[in-house]
Amino acid sequence: MSFKPSQLILPSEITPREMVLYRRQFLKQAAVVAGAGWLEMASRNAFAEPAGARKLTAKANPAYVVMDNKTAYKDATTYNNFYEFGTDKSEPAQTAGSLKTQPWTVSIEGEVNKPMKLDLDGLMKIAPLEERIYRLRCVEGWSMVIPWSGFSLSNLIKKVEPNSRANYVEFTSLADKSQMPGIRYDVLNWPYVEGLRLDEAMHPLALLAFGMYGEVLPNQNGAPVRMVLPWKYGFKSAKSIVKIRFTSEQPKTAWNQAAPREYGFYSNVNPEVDHPRWSQASERRIGEDGIFSKKRKTLMFNGYSEVASLYSGMDLRKFY
Ligand code: MTE
Repeated sequence: MSFKPSQLILPSEITPREMVLYRRQFLKQAAVVAGAGWLEMASRNAFAEPAGARKLTAKANPAYVVMDNKTAYKDATTYNNFYEFGTDKSEPAQTAGSLKTQPWTVSIEGEVNKPMKLDLDGLMKIAPLEERIYRLRCVEGWSMVIPWSGFSLSNLIKKVEPNSRANYVEFTSLADKSQMPGIRYDVLNWPYVEGLRLDEAMHPLALLAFGMYGEVLPNQNGAPVRMVLPWKYGFKSAKSIVKIRFTSEQPKTAWNQAAPREYGFYSNVNPEVDHPRWSQASERRIGEDGIFSKKRKTLMFNGYSEVASLYSGMDLRKFY
């Protein structure tokens, strides 16, 4: 079976989800009106944080906290894009249990003086873990607010010492048919590859994340280690990373190869540059998308204006 990636993320996919959330909101209201306490409790549980997952201690960093309500844990862990585990938003939560995250090795290689192969413990010891609450916006037009645990990628970059030929950083996700049922479909050119310019990768906002909501990353969210780049569309944030390679040439990224007119290398959140098939001017916040909720205005760089200087002088219509 072969899909065209551009057919897979039509905003029309969103509708069933909206109905689910509308139903949830309706049930909540019905519970209050009818005084049916058990119903209200059931809906409150859906917003609770996890019980039983492995805790991950990280110190809150108040410099990186968006003043928005956090997305419910349940929503953040059941509405996912992780095509290695299926193209439907609900599939990764159901199928990613087969991902084996221990042992795990990340190879850091390419144009560096000190290439390294680190296991997860070694990687996590590079710098103290911080909790940062980031807003992440998907190119499909929805957003979430999630507390992530990790550290700035720049800590790792400094350790491996990029040489004078290093201009870009390429991230490669695991692609293992035996663990990832979605790999058998040629939806994308596997493995999933993403990339950044070296100065983007060095920006303190660029987070190498190991956890969310105070726990280790659930598999469907990119365990055991992923990127989180809040000023870029969600697909730039590669999950389940096994290789970080420094290159002189711009990396060939999976989505750019699949649909170059739709997904550029930069993919900065930009309300002024529409996707060829839909506007990027507004977004639905997951959890707020009841039938009466307004869409939110999308902000330039998703509101992270501190990255603007990385792009001064660039035509962001051309470098989308
Ligand atoms: N990484 C890999 N390896 N495979 C994917 O399919 N999807 C991307 C990104 N990283 C994806 C990936 C997209 S489109 C988005 S929006 C985010 O992961 C979703 O992250 P979340 O499920 O934690 O919200």
